[in-house]
Amino acid sequence: MNTLIVYATKYGCTENCVKDLAKKLTGKVVYFNLKSGNAPDLSQYDKIIVGGSIYIGRIQKEVSDFCSKNLDGLKTKKTGFFICCMRDGAIAESELNDAFPKELLAAAAAKDCFGGEFIFSKMNFLDKLIVKKVSKINKDTSNILTENINSFASIMNKA
Ligand SMILES: Cc1cc2nc3c(=O)[nH]c(=O)nc-3n(C[C@H](O)[C@H](O)[C@H](O)COP(=O)(O)O)c2cc1C
Repeated sequence: MNTLIVYATKYGCTENCVKDLAKKLTGKVVYFNLKSGNAPDLSQYDKIIVGGSIYIGRIQKEVSDFCSKNLDGLKTKKTGFFICCMRDGAIAESELNDAFPKELLAAAAAKDCFGGEFIFSKMNFLDKLIVKKVSKINKDTSNILTENINSFASIMNKA
């Protein structure tokens, strides 16, 4: 079974989660950053995983564009969808549900939030300002949910 993971990241958190997930998946795994160009041909893969991070309530445009462009193709695959974000509980769940087309989420084998991180030294000036103002957090914080990555991998391996 071949798996393709496509993702978008701004400061590298999603990419680190993708690398961790890839290690836990069985079979051949290829991952591709959507910000680096057009995704590989989906027909080569049995399973497709799509992920990205949330900024002001929304997933990156590259991720939503990929989903709308490949809506029909994705419906024929075993799929998984995830987000990286710093909110938790019901807000994170609603961010996840808003990030991908409903019909894709309804047919997905796995969907989850992998948590997130604030690393101030990586952020641009505006992002630092927004995070400090909105979240009231002003020091590096990591909240990666490894147990969610593990269970996502296990579901995708059985799909
Ligand atoms: C400017 C800014 C806005 C953000 N807005 C949200 C948000 O609306 N909801 C949320 O859950 N997380 C939010 N986050 C947290 C990011 O989703 C989190 O930092 C994530 O780990 C970033 O992943 P990336 O490095 O792969 O882009 C925000 C972060 C920044 C810097």
